[in-house]
Amino acid sequence: MIEIVSVKRDTQVKNEMRLEFKAISENEAFARTAVAAFVTQLNPTLEEISDIKTAVSEAVTNAIIHGYEGMENYDNRVWLSCFIKNDVLDVEVRDSGVGIENIEKAMQPLFTTKPQLDRSGMGFSFMEAFMDDLEVISEPGHGTSVHMVKKLGTASWIEEE
Ligand SMILES: Nc1ncnc2c1ncn2[C@@H]1O[C@H](COP(=O)(O)OP(=O)(O)O)[C@@H](O)[C@H]1O
Ligand SMILES: [Mg+2]
Repeated sequence: MIEIVSVKRDTQVKNEMRLEFKAISENEAFARTAVAAFVTQLNPTLEEISDIKTAVSEAVTNAIIHGYEGMENYDNRVWLSCFIKNDVLDVEVRDSGVGIENIEKAMQPLFTTKPQLDRSGMGFSFMEAFMDDLEVISEPGHGTSVHMVKKLGTASWIEEE
């Protein structure tokens, strides 16, 4: 099973939470709201909250409609993990769906394998634009892990550097 969150078991991780939910579209709003609630402890700006919600939403939607191809099997699950380390939020969205054959191609703006579903092909581009780091790991036939990092409160972040 794919798991890439390297900050795991890191003693510097101040807080963490994990969720597992059924891969159905009703849970897209739940997932983004849960992450938004979790990051309030970092006193994010409204813009930061909006960026994080958009990115989480795109990743969870992808897991549901691409990873599991929209099928509502009982076993189709999405795993969401969040870690806070200093002023940095680390989010991982993972599925055990079909996986991605060519990640580089999939991440190109406007690329979509589901044009018939009115997909814009901009999901990964939004994740990249709204977060500070994006890493996608996938194994065809086994699933996909999308790892995103957002640095909050840029001022204090620079001070620490
Ligand atoms: N979790 C996933 N599992 C399988 N394929 C994925 C996953 N996420 C993204 N993809 C692939 O990457 C492509 C691009 O994703 P994205 O940029 O979000 O555009 P869109 O969702 O509009 O197609 C998708 O069309 C799909 O082929
Ligand atoms: Mg998408």
